[in-house]
Amino acid sequence: MVDMDTLVGLCKRRGFVFQNSEIYGGINGFWDYGPVGTELKRRVKELWWKRMVQNRDDVVGLDSTIIAHPRTWIASGHVAGFNDPMIDCKECKRRFRADDMPAPKKETFKEGSCPECGGEMTSAREFNLMFQTSVGATTDSSSTAYLRPETCQSIFTQFKNVLTVARKKPPFGIAQIGKAFRNEITPRNFTFRTREFEQMEMEFFCHADDSKKWYEYWVQERFDWFKSLGIDEKKLRLRPHHQGELAHYAQGCTDVEYEMPFGWSEMEGIADRSNYDLTQHHNESGKDLTFFDDQRKEKYLPNVIETSVGVDRTMLCVLADAYREEEVKGEKRVVMGFDPSVAPFQVAVFPLSAKLSESAKKVHTELKKSFASDFDYVGSIGKRYRRHDEIGTPFCITYDFESEEDKSVTVRDRDTMAQDRISMDKVAEYLKDKFNN
Ligand code: GAP
Repeated sequence: MVDMDTLVGLCKRRGFVFQNSEIYGGINGFWDYGPVGTELKRRVKELWWKRMVQNRDDVVGLDSTIIAHPRTWIASGHVAGFNDPMIDCKECKRRFRADDMPAPKKETFKEGSCPECGGEMTSAREFNLMFQTSVGATTDSSSTAYLRPETCQSIFTQFKNVLTVARKKPPFGIAQIGKAFRNEITPRNFTFRTREFEQMEMEFFCHADDSKKWYEYWVQERFDWFKSLGIDEKKLRLRPHHQGELAHYAQGCTDVEYEMPFGWSEMEGIADRSNYDLTQHHNESGKDLTFFDDQRKEKYLPNVIETSVGVDRTMLCVLADAYREEEVKGEKRVVMGFDPSVAPFQVAVFPLSAKLSESAKKVHTELKKSFASDFDYVGSIGKRYRRHDEIGTPFCITYDFESEEDKSVTVRDRDTMAQDRISMDKVAEYLKDKFNN
């Protein structure tokens, strides 16, 4: 299994992930995606959207704002209760989450002392994780607003509008991809726990009688999605929450976990949230959010099954899972063995010499109509192969001097390193076949 330092190093070297504001020393818990990471991120979001919305008839999309009416967060319970217990060291001034303390650096440190320096700790106090801002020209308490800590609340507040226009009725879902913000006390493990991240959430509205059935369906469906990204099944598992872990309104919750280099970790949560959220917004707003079911002849606030996954965490899982090292002719080869569906580039085209650039570019331009293609003309062919192995490009195509004569190119397979000579007019077909296998 790859260690985190190696993965972080590769992510920087190849343009997957950079530390935000690096030239100013960085800012803890904020990361930027470079050119290759941006492609990977788009791919992950597209695959989610395709499976959750586009390929289904019972889920529609929403794109809501990051800032919502502050009463949203009173109704949701975040203003009163979205807290983590925080604890500080009086000596070294380090800050920790009291419920997630690291192991002490020295065995001699007293229990309850600072795990870093052994110093005396403050008692734990509650810290609200929402970022506050002000809306408008004044900055008094009436202008206080919050950056959303989860994307789903606007799905609940827009439930009635969507119901009216989308010509859907329960069972149906509303999906959204967007930024969320949490002022985490201890952001850590690279992009695993950050202060700004993206979520892909879907709230599925159904009658209470059917919620168990839909909950089981979505747990399996979401697990299968991770497998469809080519993730090693042995490193994936479902972890149902025990009763003591559940929020008071939740009737069930299961996490999809992946075995990260730092241990089994939550990627996604699937939860039966009962009709708690709609009830809260119905009561706080005074607006009727009930649905009249003309088949059942019953008016009710639907139950909700939620699927909630982080884009950044999914990417970290895809990255960690793809990394492998091999020995080829006594040398180390690093390969990101992405499934072609998530690979930032599906194919790369190399002219063997600068003189061949113009002709090779024509091949690249043609391939771009059907594939994510990169044109790479810098350095030796060996270096270009190494770069594309490390960014996980499944196929590299070399245009050489013979190509001018035989109208063929050499296609190299990332995983087997086998090379095939293929006629230029058959390359697209050849790649399509490979990707479908
Ligand atoms: N609406 C439910 C909700 O937000 P959550 O378990 O707090 O539930 C859902 O978050 C998912 O969002 C997590 O499984 C994780 O993938 C992602 N996530 C949560 N906090 C995160 C953070 N600080 N950094 C990166 N991803 C995070």
